[in-house]
Amino acid sequence: MSKKKIAFGVDVGGSGIKGAPVNLNKGSLIGDRLRIPTPTPATPEAVADVIGQVVAAHDEVRGDAPIGVTVPGVVTHGVVRSAANIDPSWIGVDAKALFEERLGHPVHVVNDADAAGVAEMAYGAAEDVRGLVILTTLGTGIGTALIHDGVLVPNSELGHLELDGGDAEDTAASSAREREDLSWEDWAKRLQRYYRHVEDVLWPDLFVVGGGVSSQANQFLPLLDLRTPIVAAKLRNKAGIIGAARLAADD
Ligand code: BGC
Repeated sequence: MSKKKIAFGVDVGGSGIKGAPVNLNKGSLIGDRLRIPTPTPATPEAVADVIGQVVAAHDEVRGDAPIGVTVPGVVTHGVVRSAANIDPSWIGVDAKALFEERLGHPVHVVNDADAAGVAEMAYGAAEDVRGLVILTTLGTGIGTALIHDGVLVPNSELGHLELDGGDAEDTAASSAREREDLSWEDWAKRLQRYYRHVEDVLWPDLFVVGGGVSSQANQFLPLLDLRTPIVAAKLRNKAGIIGAARLAADD
């Protein structure tokens, strides 16, 4: 990785936009992360304005450090290509160009789950794990990151695999558990089918489970019967910020 020690990460989520400077030697936040509610509607311009506020609030600590920003959709070459759980107006937007214009600074734009996967690989639950690691974030949707021998293969989008005749994230995401008021056991049955399907086609060495619900991993991980080891993410709600910062420094 690059020699820069500090980078700035911004995590754009459905309810909040969070950012902080990151110490890349330790994989930890420098000071508190600032959270500003996501504007409604969360159009690219409105989100870019809030990102500008989050970054400006840390100008003193950040200095000229690289900036990374997550987006909850497919991102190729800085352009957002999908919008399953975000405002449809994002599709086709050159987010890199938009954010760079707003911030007057180079920006690395990355899928939210990919950023979390990179952070867990570098500083968290998948540190030093060789072979294929698949991070899944269970939240409003299901985000996934594929990391092989420490190298990210971006935009895996395994949350949209077909499960029980539909999109997996519609029935197996954490939001489905809340919406349908499922018991941990009933939700785990869906997760079981989901993770079994993924391990049957990709044969990972490790699953890492992130997303807010991972703080209650002891309620559902023990109910799963998989051949792949499966563990909770360690960096919790900081993973997106840390991963985005790290990728920006490596850009
Ligand atoms: C999107 C992914 C995203 C995930 C988590 C999915 O609906 O397609 O790109 O990583 O939600 O936010």
